Amino acid sequence: MKSLEGKVVIITGASSGIGAALAKAFSQREARVVLTARRLEKLKEAARNCPNETLCVRSDVTNVKDRQDLINQTLSQWNRVDILVNNAGSGMYGKLESIKEREIRNLFEVNILSIIFLTQMVLPIMKSQGEGLIVNISSIAGLVSHSNNVAPYISTKHAVIGFSRGLVKDLQGTKIKVNVVCPYLTLTEFFDASVGTQEMSGIVEQLRSRMDSPDQVAKGILNQIFSDRFIIFPTEISEKAYFKFRDL
Ligand SMILES: NC(=O)c1ccc[n+]([C@@H]2O[C@H](COP(=O)([O-])OP(=O)(O)OC[C@H]3O[C@@H](n4cnc5c(N)ncnc54)[C@H](OP(=O)(O)O)[C@@H]3O)[C@@H](O)[C@H]2O)c1
Repeated sequence: MKSLEGKVVIITGASSGIGAALAKAFSQREARVVLTARRLEKLKEAARNCPNETLCVRSDVTNVKDRQDLINQTLSQWNRVDILVNNAGSGMYGKLESIKEREIRNLFEVNILSIIFLTQMVLPIMKSQGEGLIVNISSIAGLVSHSNNVAPYISTKHAVIGFSRGLVKDLQGTKIKVNVVCPYLTLTEFFDASVGTQEMSGIVEQLRSRMDSPDQVAKGILNQIFSDRFIIFPTEISEKAYFKFRDL
């Protein structure tokens, strides 16, 4: 297991689910983890599962001042950013005609624009350090269309992969690496926190027993982010789901 001793890792959306599990997994490898999301109490709860040094920063990734504050607090605490994990995100389920314009705009703000803007902020830091890693959490929905009534969500997750591909090209010849993670159904708060929770609850109930746990997903991510893979399927279930839906 590769030790990440001394590395500074920012994880967005670390107050629950995959982000909280990633915070624990990075910390177990001796990284210093910055946990960020809007719910400070939940961040502190997640930080209690981290064996190494942590910093909890309340921030809304859609807010420019909060993003700046996140980077400032990280630099004033540890003066470097080695890994940025763009994980914060939410879902959306429902007939396109019934979803409000502001909900779709907000989905794009959280799921893709915040990733672009946070990356813009850390790149100069990583360039001055001479190395870095950006891990963008997309989804199987970033590669295929796996369900009805999720077109806006699928658009944001395809955009995460498109943005990541563009970054890889721009960063060729540097020691800043980029990869993108495609989980499939994972048992988190995602299905309660998304637009259209009630409409999708029946489907979610049926699938619950077949979902990955956040810890399984985090383990799969940590095992692969230092490989040469650009697209990472964190678990066997996610990899199989890709091949199943790709052929439909
Ligand atoms: N669960 C799945 O089946 C699944 C499958 C494929 C991909 N994914 C992706 O995995 C990522 C993590 O999701 P999850 O399943 O772990 O869901 P989750 O438990 O609902 O976690 C989402 C995280 O994002 C944070 N967040 C949401 N909006 C935010 C905002 N405006 N500013 C800052 N933080 C914000 C939430 O924290 P606060 O509410 O405290 O801000 C929470 O920590 C997402 O990008 C999701 O699209 C999930």
